[in-house]
Amino acid sequence: MADRLELDYNNMLAPRLGGRGLTPEALDRAAETFRAVHADVERRRAAGQLAFFDLPYEDRLVPQIRAFADGAGQSFDTIVVLGIGGSALGTTALHHALSRPFWNELDDEARDYFPRLYVLDNVDPSTIAPLLDRLDLRRTLFNVVSKSGTTAETAAQFLIVRDRLIRELGQDGYRRHLVFTTDPERGALRRIAREERIAALPIPPGVGGRFSVLSAVGLLPAALVGIDIEALLAGARDMDQRCRTDRLADNPAGLFATLQYLAHTEAGAGIHVLMAYSDRLYALADWFRQLWAESLGKRFDTDGAAVHRGPTPIKALGATDQHSQVQLYAEGPFDKTITFLTADQLPCDLPIPHAYPEVEELRYLGGHSLGELLRAELAATAAALASHGRMNMTIRLPRIDAHAVGQLIMALQIATIYAGALYHVNPLDQPGVELGKVLTYGLLGREGYAPPAAAEPDPRWVAR
Ligand code: PA5
Repeated sequence: MADRLELDYNNMLAPRLGGRGLTPEALDRAAETFRAVHADVERRRAAGQLAFFDLPYEDRLVPQIRAFADGAGQSFDTIVVLGIGGSALGTTALHHALSRPFWNELDDEARDYFPRLYVLDNVDPSTIAPLLDRLDLRRTLFNVVSKSGTTAETAAQFLIVRDRLIRELGQDGYRRHLVFTTDPERGALRRIAREERIAALPIPPGVGGRFSVLSAVGLLPAALVGIDIEALLAGARDMDQRCRTDRLADNPAGLFATLQYLAHTEAGAGIHVLMAYSDRLYALADWFRQLWAESLGKRFDTDGAAVHRGPTPIKALGATDQHSQVQLYAEGPFDKTITFLTADQLPCDLPIPHAYPEVEELRYLGGHSLGELLRAELAATAAALASHGRMNMTIRLPRIDAHAVGQLIMALQIATIYAGALYHVNPLDQPGVELGKVLTYGLLGREGYAPPAAAEPDPRWVAR
């Protein structure tokens, strides 16, 4: 079907790679393993342990989001998302893929009167201070996004913003400029929302940050800037249905997870590059990087044995990184797979004019377009990598629209769950980041937390 995401994995297989890569026999064996993986995932899903699967079918949330976006949301010129990690990356990915480029620089008419959108995914004062200084707070809505409601970075952003809002708009006026997206019951944000009567949307209890883009986390800001969230969810549902089969060859998420896993465990390629061949798709590679890394990089396997396991995801951009990374991908160690992410149709194209007929180095470009050049660069890079024996595959979207992006997001989320089962790790937790959080609390004097044991740097090992 023309509207379906395609995964072309010819260049992962030995016949195309001069003997390197995966053998078709290994893939046949993996197809058997996949049946068991699929059955296990379906069982956990039926038991309610994989709540993100339900998000595209959640029929009460969209009207709730629409009501907010079409009501209170209409009175603002600017939306600022306060959040970090899984509470921010998905929104940025949706916005970059599906809103017009240079959105915040467009005038109201060019934005169809939808607001500007900023996503603050950090606590760098040199970004946040100048942004807050130039915003008209009376025309700005802050969407504070945190599943736990306690993340230090988001809490700090919120405290600064709330203080400014109160100073500008008073004790009564400020709350209209805030909307929280957080756990329906627990956490500091939920408590504050109740006590201060601040609007708040729920993140379903079993949905963690990096699997939350299709909840209110991503859908609210997307709806506020006019992204077609119904089409996004329809695309996700279509992909979910495709992935109900345990026949590996027909399950795109199963194929993606299995190929990456085999490349790692059987061919030593544990670095997984996602290389977007459109600026519009690059932030999706950033979103995926977090999803793959935080879900699969684990010290313990599901039996509790210390294994220190996990692939290393990398993001790249074509054609830009052909002039930065591809030399390494082509001739460096055989430790990487490259997944190209592209779309058959770009949102627009630009013809390259005929000029300089006497200059052979320029003449061939005239009459083509930038879209053609980009596609040719991808095809050439894929072929060149294959001829160097480098495993690569291509995810092809029919076009860059909400339905296609919904398919992609769901495919990569489901693939992450399958990959967790293949690697025998829990893809839903992130114990490795806890210690850093706890030590930060200690350094900032939070009650009940101790700072790291003071270790003065040995001056012999500091270059000054
Ligand atoms: O994917 C995750 O779970 C994390 O990246 C979280 O999204 C991130 O740590 C922010 O957490 P929270 O949404 O609780 O503020």
